[in-house]
Amino acid sequence: MPEQEQTFQNYDRYISELFASEDEALRAAREEARREGLPGIHVSPSEGKLLHVLARMAGARRILEVGTLGGYSAIWLARALPEGGRMISLEIDPHHAEVARRNVERAGLSGKVEVRVGPASESLAQLQAAGEAQFDLVFIDADKDGYVDYLKKAVPLTRAGGLILGDNTLPDAVLDPAADSGTKRYNAAVAAHPDLVSILIPVLRGHGLDGLLVSIKAS
Ligand SMILES: C[S@@+](CC[C@H](N)C(=O)[O-])C[C@H]1O[C@@H](n2cnc3c(N)ncnc32)[C@H](O)[C@@H]1O
Repeated sequence: MPEQEQTFQNYDRYISELFASEDEALRAAREEARREGLPGIHVSPSEGKLLHVLARMAGARRILEVGTLGGYSAIWLARALPEGGRMISLEIDPHHAEVARRNVERAGLSGKVEVRVGPASESLAQLQAAGEAQFDLVFIDADKDGYVDYLKKAVPLTRAGGLILGDNTLPDAVLDPAADSGTKRYNAAVAAHPDLVSILIPVLRGHGLDGLLVSIKAS
């Protein structure tokens, strides 16, 4: 492994061991997802803990996630909810959703977390049409080409002072002025949004670098 990647991995391991050690339910969720053939593209333990801390800082009672996979980030987030708190997680793949529901149940969180199956674009429109109460935190972590649409639909679903978090927002391609990608379009849309105050935070993920774009809805 190149020296820089080894350094990233060492720092990430140090942070995870000190602040984000997994308990049995988180470890089992990861292992079950792997056994069931889901791709290993969940957040890292250190990013899971970052999501958890941000949810607590926001005093989140209602959380919306776009992109459930096997429920790994859902467990980190839902553990930040107080008694009576609720989380809805949107997933297009029924098999992913089924694995996630099992993992959430094993973590003792099925009373708080609902996994809804369908294209996120439609599920978000349905939430709005149903007059769903606003969320304190929205975590976007699905197909990158959908991010700008998810942002448009997430803003009205977020309360003033609530957080919108965009995952995987610092891939190498952002540095290429000629490259066009869902992530770059999302970052630009967030930066230009009049109601959002935002910063892209670099995060370590194993031996690489990624980003979490953190926005607070100002009004
Ligand atoms: C990066 S993974 C989510 C990882 C998860 N948040 C975690 O960290 O544990 C992205 C997920 O989004 C789902 N997805 C992709 N396109 C989608 C869409 N249009 N609507 C809803 N979910 C979608 C994929 O099936 C996949 O499970």
